[in-house]
Amino acid sequence: MPASPIRKLVPYAEAAKKRGVKVYHLNIGQPDIETPQMALDAVRHFDFKVLEYSHSAGNESYRRKLSAYYKRSGMDIDYQQIIVTTGGSEAILFAFMSCLDAGDEVIIPEPFYANYNGFAVAADILVKPLTSYIGSGFALPPVAEFEKLIGPRTRGIMICNPNNPTGYLYSSEEMETLRQLILKHDLYLFADEAYRDFCYTGQHIHSLNLQGVEDRVIMIDTISKRYSACGGRIGALITRNQDILDTVLKFAQARLSPPSFAQILGEAACDLPADYFDATRAEYLKRRDVLVSRLNAIPGVYCPNPGGAFYAMASLPVDDTDKFCQWILESFSYENQTVMLAPAGGFYGTPGLGKKEIRLAYVLNTAALHKAMDCLQKALEEYPGKI
Ligand SMILES: Cc1ncc(COP(=O)(O)O)c(C=O)c1O
Repeated sequence: MPASPIRKLVPYAEAAKKRGVKVYHLNIGQPDIETPQMALDAVRHFDFKVLEYSHSAGNESYRRKLSAYYKRSGMDIDYQQIIVTTGGSEAILFAFMSCLDAGDEVIIPEPFYANYNGFAVAADILVKPLTSYIGSGFALPPVAEFEKLIGPRTRGIMICNPNNPTGYLYSSEEMETLRQLILKHDLYLFADEAYRDFCYTGQHIHSLNLQGVEDRVIMIDTISKRYSACGGRIGALITRNQDILDTVLKFAQARLSPPSFAQILGEAACDLPADYFDATRAEYLKRRDVLVSRLNAIPGVYCPNPGGAFYAMASLPVDDTDKFCQWILESFSYENQTVMLAPAGGFYGTPGLGKKEIRLAYVLNTAALHKAMDCLQKALEEYPGKI
């Protein structure tokens, strides 16, 4: 079972803090945006005598509200096509376990959300990484590259749109390419849309709206990022394929039910006004613009402009970002401050890739981002391993 590459530098950050150094955390996707008050109030004021199990598929009232939210977002989804899960994490695991047998393969464009590896281990399936490149902004690899990887055990393609860690937002042409691929090769499309509501440049093409592959698409959703509710542990698996829903429900029954309090939170959040995301989106967009322009102004650094989510990948003029990200915590500070970054190697399935790249999460306000970028700039001036 792989350790999380995002958390492995934590001891060095803790040691820096013990030395009195302020650490700017750009390493992890923990949003600083406040959880909506009315959603918190719904939990606070919930009147109950017994904290019961809920339905294994989630409370019907919540699923009905979710269905309305999807309809408002342009997806015609019935509440019975939704299974509420313990975070998007459990939805990914249920999707793998329900659609693939042990030893089956899923193709995932890399770099990808590193925990997919953990879910693949748990489900006893194999991830076949397909490299996308920083030079093309991490666009979808060409069809021919997918087809080279498709073999007798290939059962699906997994995407994250917009992407963690790259922030890449797939175009309608790329989604059409994927549609044709899954149709031609009889595959499932697992679409992780955890960041769907955070798109800045371009429009999100919903996987559930792809025509002619309705029974092949499994969408993964979560309230973690949408409502800054990571600790609630509520996600959902959505598909129009009844066989998959039946199988997923068996896994859902085995774990009894998703968390009750956070379902109340999620249900209340569905009633937020349609313009709720405007302010959050505008804030992330401002941060993205600060981060990307500051990064590209540092000699030797390159950061493509991400279209969505709240992550960016950058290449640095160093030989090994694992070493650099440790050094910047362990041996560097500027005005008694430093920055924690995620080395990108852990987001690649192919060994050795991403050694010059880092992922940055723009989950801090613009003033803090400027300070973090001051630290990175100074660190790159001083770093002995610079190339
Ligand atoms: C792409 C992606 N999918 C799934 C998850 C897991 O989300 P949850 O907190 O809902 O389990 C994350 C969390 O960072 C993520 O970035």
